Amino acid sequence: MAKALSIPAVVPDHIAIVMDGNGRWAKRRLLPRIAGHRQGVESLRRCIRACAERGVRVLTVFAFSSENWSRPADEVSGLMDLMAKALGREVPELQKGGVRLRFVGERRGLSERMQQGLLQAEAATAAGAALQLNVCFNYGGRWDVAQAAAALAARGESITEASLDRAMALAHAPDPDLLIRTGGEQRLSNFLLWQAAYSELYFSERLWPDFDEAALDEAIAAYAARERRFGQTSEQRVQASA
Ligand code: IPE
Ligand code: IPE
Ligand code: MG
Repeated sequence: MAKALSIPAVVPDHIAIVMDGNGRWAKRRLLPRIAGHRQGVESLRRCIRACAERGVRVLTVFAFSSENWSRPADEVSGLMDLMAKALGREVPELQKGGVRLRFVGERRGLSERMQQGLLQAEAATAAGAALQLNVCFNYGGRWDVAQAAAALAARGESITEASLDRAMALAHAPDPDLLIRTGGEQRLSNFLLWQAAYSELYFSERLWPDFDEAALDEAIAAYAARERRFGQTSEQRVQASA
């Protein structure tokens, strides 16, 4: 019997998420924006666990963009504090869950102390084999393409799709299968411009702190119902997997 071949593997191998809506979550409760970011960390903790349970192998999340420096100074410093505290607190839990943590982004724009913290957390979780977690922090898709091109140029290497791909900050991970943005906006905001070329896009109205297991399952179900064609025709896809 012919299999239903246009249906992708039910669980995406790599999920990427723009965790948006923390500020609005707080505003609705008449709380300061940072309270929304704090709740966002809780939501991320839940999401990491849920992804591991569902067999997702790579999770990439957008935590702070190159453009987020232009927010009010107290929000930026609040976000930096939150990251510093989360680093200390979450590492043992990540280790226990077999999560390998990597930070993706421009390190030089961060304080010396923060850079050390990121390196330590990465080293402490380097043996994790259950789930790869990439936290995009001081990250921009354009920064990544530019730094990759600059690295190749400095080494005198030619610039091809394959060489750029290898020089990108996310070279260790396959391209995302499913890219989720919470918070209702339908834009990339400079996230994974190169890697999302063939990702399935999913937009959720839920604010990030409210994005729970059921919301994740809805996103995965929507993904499972899509047909990924990679430029081919539907008939070709069916034949290729027959
Ligand atoms: C996303 O939530 C987190 C960061 C950008 C750090 P926002 O802070 O953008 O929340 P909204 O979009 O203002 O609700
Ligand atoms: C994107 O959200 C960045 C993160 C989620 C870290 P923003 O809230 O910064 O995006 P814009 O400004 O609405 O496009
Ligand atoms: Mg936002």
